[in-house]
Amino acid sequence: MTDIAILGPGPVGEALGGRFAAAGHRVIYGSRDPGAEAVRAVVARTGDGARAAAPIAAAQACEVAVIALPWGAVETALPPLAEALAGKTVIDATNPLRATPAGPELSMGFDVSGGERVQALLPGARVVKAFNTTGWGGMVDPVFEGRRSVMFHCGDDAAACETARGLIEDVGFEAVHAGPLSAARLTEAHAMLWIHLAYRGGQGRDWAFGLLRRG
Ligand SMILES: NC(=O)c1ccc[n+]([C@@H]2O[C@H](COP(=O)([O-])OP(=O)(O)OC[C@H]3O[C@@H](n4cnc5c(N)ncnc54)[C@H](OP(=O)(O)O)[C@@H]3O)[C@@H](O)[C@H]2O)c1
Repeated sequence: MTDIAILGPGPVGEALGGRFAAAGHRVIYGSRDPGAEAVRAVVARTGDGARAAAPIAAAQACEVAVIALPWGAVETALPPLAEALAGKTVIDATNPLRATPAGPELSMGFDVSGGERVQALLPGARVVKAFNTTGWGGMVDPVFEGRRSVMFHCGDDAAACETARGLIEDVGFEAVHAGPLSAARLTEAHAMLWIHLAYRGGQGRDWAFGLLRRG
């Protein structure tokens, strides 16, 4: 059992929190207003001993943290948590999106990724990029017609990547290691392809990427 802080009790945070709790982990949501009705509802739906607290308390209490905040929040929300998260595995589920008239697009990616920016904001943490490449519905249930969908993870710390791999499998995905944290430039673009196909490509939200192998 791992104590997991989920920073951001939105759709992604709740989807992952529910799966982690069902797998036997102890979930604490980090919220700016942990007593808010919406947050209490997320805690109640998660069950299995889940609770909510201020982000700093959740960061202090956890062994592993998952960042499930809007990209626009990370620059201000993360630095106050840096000390509490130093030395811990931090899984970054965000995508560095910006709004445009045509819909969301990536705001970075050729020479730096959101994952690397999160690492810079949390210099002592062991950041792993994961849980960003499919919609939240695919995190609630990652199995499609009997096959596990794929979830890539990448990071510079081998032990943190191994921790993330275990949690990805606990959620129900096939975990595939994609290399160092700089590979987040690729997985964030991969997430953008999912968003593009879901919202502009006519696929809707109830699908996910999988891997096919021969032999
Ligand atoms: N939605 C998806 O299907 C999906 C899939 C993959 C990855 N992602 C990525 O995952 C991240 C989370 O997505 P989401 O849709 O779950 O997020 P969201 O609902 O927009 O936000 C999650 C939570 O973050 C907190 N928050 C919002 N604005 C904040 C601010 N300015 N400062 C601090 N906290 C703030 C809020 O909790 P409190 O008010 O309780 O603090 C909110 O409930 C995003 O970066 C997104 O790109 C999303």
